[in-house]
Amino acid sequence: MGVTLLKKLPLPIRKYLRMFSSLAESLNYKIFLVGGIVRDLLLGEENLDLDIVVEGDAIEFVKVFSKKLKAEFIKHHSFGTATLYLNNNLKVDFATARKEFYPYWGALPKVVASTIREDLFRRDFTINAMAMSLNRESWGNILDFYGGINDLDRGLIRVLHPKSFLEDPTRIFRAIRFEQRFSFRIEPHTFSLLKEAIRLGAIKWIDEHRIRDELILILKEPAPYRYIRRINQLIGFSFINEKLILKKSDFLLLMRIQRALHIYKKKFKKCRELQGWIIYLAGIVYKLTENALFQFFSQFGLRKGERKIILSIKESFSKVRHLKRVKPKVGIFEILKPLSFEAVVFFYAYFKDKTIRKKICVFLEKLAHIRLKLRGEDLKRVGYKDKTNYTKIFKRLLHKKIEKNISTKSQELKELKRLLT
Ligand code: CTP
Repeated sequence: MGVTLLKKLPLPIRKYLRMFSSLAESLNYKIFLVGGIVRDLLLGEENLDLDIVVEGDAIEFVKVFSKKLKAEFIKHHSFGTATLYLNNNLKVDFATARKEFYPYWGALPKVVASTIREDLFRRDFTINAMAMSLNRESWGNILDFYGGINDLDRGLIRVLHPKSFLEDPTRIFRAIRFEQRFSFRIEPHTFSLLKEAIRLGAIKWIDEHRIRDELILILKEPAPYRYIRRINQLIGFSFINEKLILKKSDFLLLMRIQRALHIYKKKFKKCRELQGWIIYLAGIVYKLTENALFQFFSQFGLRKGERKIILSIKESFSKVRHLKRVKPKVGIFEILKPLSFEAVVFFYAYFKDKTIRKKICVFLEKLAHIRLKLRGEDLKRVGYKDKTNYTKIFKRLLHKKIEKNISTKSQELKELKRLLT
């Protein structure tokens, strides 16, 4: 079965896998494809994240390979792992087969080299704990020591041992992610272990940056509304802030955000791709006080640009509400232009008012893309020397361009001359 599955991978990847295979043979190592990609090959889902486990020294393996192919790599010594960068933007993660020990629950594990069987046993769920042999004599064979195929068939998320959620509470979020992504069920015993870990407060044991990464992965899923509901049902959102409780109206907003993002992708092809996850996050946290928001930003290590988007949303409700009354296109432009597209889409979802929504659409479809063709040198050429006023003049000119539907450079020039007289 595995051999046919490997044929589903694009040819360049298969070629690399063959090269890894022969290098492993010459080094007398064993190598395996592991984790998500094996699961997804079995499910028929696309996945090009190559994770490889080496019974042997993974760093040595990558060093030798990259020397042969002159490929770049980065090694991460503490875990005996390395990332190899190949042509076509292909990135492959290599790890030495390892056993893990958790110095305390929720900590990052200490590791020692081990076998593929033990390496698979340290993993989160049976469906993620399978490997596929890349060794010549057993090419494509699936290693399924813990019943992963059976659980895939039955649609079950199951841990491999009872301490799994306690040792690594990020798995609570991962269980929700895989349950919702594949419409699987969390197997009853696993579910009681998950609930017990939540009851014991396991989520508080993990570094907030790791929770952030899990939350972002969830919010990046294609339609995360259901996932957010499930987090709310099982965990709540007090891990973000003690006082944060999502109400029915918040869920309605999150649902509208999901719809707005869908419309944005379909309708506004000229607009750049959005970081949709920030809009959902804003939908979750925007009601927090400014102080609580700042605390959240710093504890969860949000980046400057991400903070800016969320803060700009928090500060702009009344300005955007004013859209209902502004008449000329310039008015719409002035209100929405300072905002990121993420914030604009948030407000499209937030305001149900038809007039406001229509104006936001005009902005996204047209106004947001209007640029002046004239540059500073054109101003100089028409004899305007005072550089300190350039920004002001360009702003007025842009407004004229929007008002009058000007499109050509010569029309802009005419308008400029009119403005300067
Ligand atoms: N893993 C784990 N426990 C974690 C994180 C990861 O056991 N807390 C293991 C799983 O075997 C997983 C693999 O590491 O399959 C790779 O992790 P990751 O890339 O995060 O997950 P994927 O399963 O590949 O998920 P996705 O499809 O979302 O990339």
